[in-house]
Amino acid sequence: MLPSASVLLLLCVSGLLVPSQGLPFEQRGFWDFGLDGDGGGGMMMMMRDEEEGSAFEETPAPPPDGPVCPFGCHCHRHVVQCSDLGLTAVPKNIPTDTKLLDLQNNRITELPEDSFKGLSNLYALVLVNNKISKVNPRTFVPLRHLQKLYFSRNLLTAVPKNLPSSLVELRIHENRIKKVPEGAFNGLGSMNCIEMGRNPIQNSGFEPGAFKGLKLNYLRISEANLTGIPKDLPESLHELHLDSNQIQAIELEDLSRYKNLFRLGLGYNHIRMIENGSLAFVPRLRELHLENNQLSRVPRGLPDMKYLQVVYLHSNNISQVGMNDFCPQGFGMKRTFYNGISLFGNPVNYWEVQPAAFRCVSDRLAIQFGNYKK
Ligand SMILES: *[C@@H]1O[C@H](CO)[C@@H](O)[C@H](O)[C@H]1NC(C)=O
Ligand SMILES: *[C@@H]1O[C@H](CO)[C@@H](O)[C@H](O)[C@H]1NC(C)=O
Ligand SMILES: *[C@@H]1O[C@H](CO)[C@@H](O)[C@H](O)[C@H]1NC(C)=O
Repeated sequence: MLPSASVLLLLCVSGLLVPSQGLPFEQRGFWDFGLDGDGGGGMMMMMRDEEEGSAFEETPAPPPDGPVCPFGCHCHRHVVQCSDLGLTAVPKNIPTDTKLLDLQNNRITELPEDSFKGLSNLYALVLVNNKISKVNPRTFVPLRHLQKLYFSRNLLTAVPKNLPSSLVELRIHENRIKKVPEGAFNGLGSMNCIEMGRNPIQNSGFEPGAFKGLKLNYLRISEANLTGIPKDLPESLHELHLDSNQIQAIELEDLSRYKNLFRLGLGYNHIRMIENGSLAFVPRLRELHLENNQLSRVPRGLPDMKYLQVVYLHSNNISQVGMNDFCPQGFGMKRTFYNGISLFGNPVNYWEVQPAAFRCVSDRLAIQFGNYKK
């Protein structure tokens, strides 16, 4: 019944807003939607109830004058399940008290204006894996309480317009978006997460002001066509993931806007050069992923990063590790010791590295060296 939707709702996991000493591998409970406010927890509770209930309980027949469940769908406790039905349009007569509407894995091609009329209680809408290319600019207007919109794996060429201001999480992974115009997120105040990877977007596709006015915690644009770090993303970002793009370098000003970053993911790019001083713009960084790039040395500036705990540098072209590449020279300058440094897959002779190069690491096991094989 529900597994597909349940799994989906777990995807945008972000344990970051409350950085604790236990960082970084601490995964908070999958059920924990605390970041999204009460709505999230309530929804998950509801869905769990639904799952448990549906295993051994018949769906009670609706009262004669109550809302009717659309043909083929399964309706129970504010959850309307219409996935995998071969639907070519959003069904009519969706009960107006619906909180979760699951329409994934169908063949819906467009969302006309009245698609979700009256669904002002809707909290989560799942449209993943359809063939939607056309969305009327007014389609989402009735969804005044929508917090989660899952729109991945469709044929969208643009971010849908007039998204509800209540939105907290937007997933539009794997569409055909090439351009994000100025004001694309107009009207959205404060969001937790946007996932827009696997869209054929280049740096020039983000027009200046594309994210204007948006306060956002987590952004992922992986497997796209970025050749550099976009310069005009929201300043509020705590997490930025740009892995598997074609980024070649980090230049001095690239990170100057993102002072609040805790986590930066740049693995699987083509980075050869990280300009001196560029990391000084992200002094709060706790986790930096640079694995599978073409760096020939440890990036400069790491010793000055007081809170940095995890640095992935494996599978690069680093041939030396200097005494002061990771740790500051002064005593007590580093506030949190490293608890994860990966260096395997580099042409460095680990027996030549001075153990004191890792004097600010919490535990020897935190360093992953391994052997360089060629
Ligand atoms: C965009 O990236 C994809 C996957 O990395 C690649 O196959 C495609 O050729 C790229 N397109 C452009 C226009 O660079
Ligand atoms: C980068 O900084 C290091 C010291 O951290 C300095 O030795 C080096 O000359 C600098 N390189 C450039 C190109 O400025
Ligand atoms: C790796 O670094 C060495 C110099 O340290 C350089 O000669 C070589 O071309 C680099 N290889 C790649 C694949 O970048």
